[in-house]
Amino acid sequence: MSQDRKKKNAAKIAIDYVKNNSIIGIGTGTTINFFIEELGKHKGLIDGAVSTSVATEKLLREQNIPVLPLNSVIDLPIYIDGADEATHNKHLIKGGGGALTQEKIVAAASKQFVCIIDDSKLVPLLGGFPLPVEVIPMAQSYVGREIAKLGGQPELRQDFLTDNGNIILDIHNLKIENPSDLENQLNQITGVVTNGLFAKRPADTLIIATDDSTIKK
Ligand code: 5RP
Repeated sequence: MSQDRKKKNAAKIAIDYVKNNSIIGIGTGTTINFFIEELGKHKGLIDGAVSTSVATEKLLREQNIPVLPLNSVIDLPIYIDGADEATHNKHLIKGGGGALTQEKIVAAASKQFVCIIDDSKLVPLLGGFPLPVEVIPMAQSYVGREIAKLGGQPELRQDFLTDNGNIILDIHNLKIENPSDLENQLNQITGVVTNGLFAKRPADTLIIATDDSTIKK
């Protein structure tokens, strides 16, 4: 089965987690694009959504789903998003699409984080996918040197600025044995906005699409 077909299957299952008339958080990426398409087929299911990127907001508006600023929402029962890598204990690498900061904020503000992936993203150890770090542009060289001290090889994501106007350094060659520690260490570097490790706030539920079924963990 193609990766897109699996992403679509996982996105369909995620609809079951959405309660009628709720406001939900929605991530960014191709898997989430399938989820938004599914939401469009369930007209009126939700009252609105908090978006994590300009791209997601546009798709939500195309489906006539009201988009609300996070600051106007007190209760976010659920956040649905994809990931670039996930472990069995639900630690994630996110940010392949560059929306990691808003994604982390909305995940933190939500009661339940449902992460939808295809099985190619399930790994025993995080770090095969280069870890994205959002950085204030003037801090690029300094942050790069500090990341190298931690054993990673930072690479500037070319021709890319985040929705916040910042750059992304993708860190290669990390074997992430302790995701929470590394998440903290990276966030301590002055100039780092945030990093794509979701360990301190992991997913609560993983929906993993495989060739023949969809597994919920
Ligand atoms: C965007 C993300 C995405 O969730 C992640 O990159 C997965 O994307 P896709 O669903 O396209 O495979 O973190 O910042």
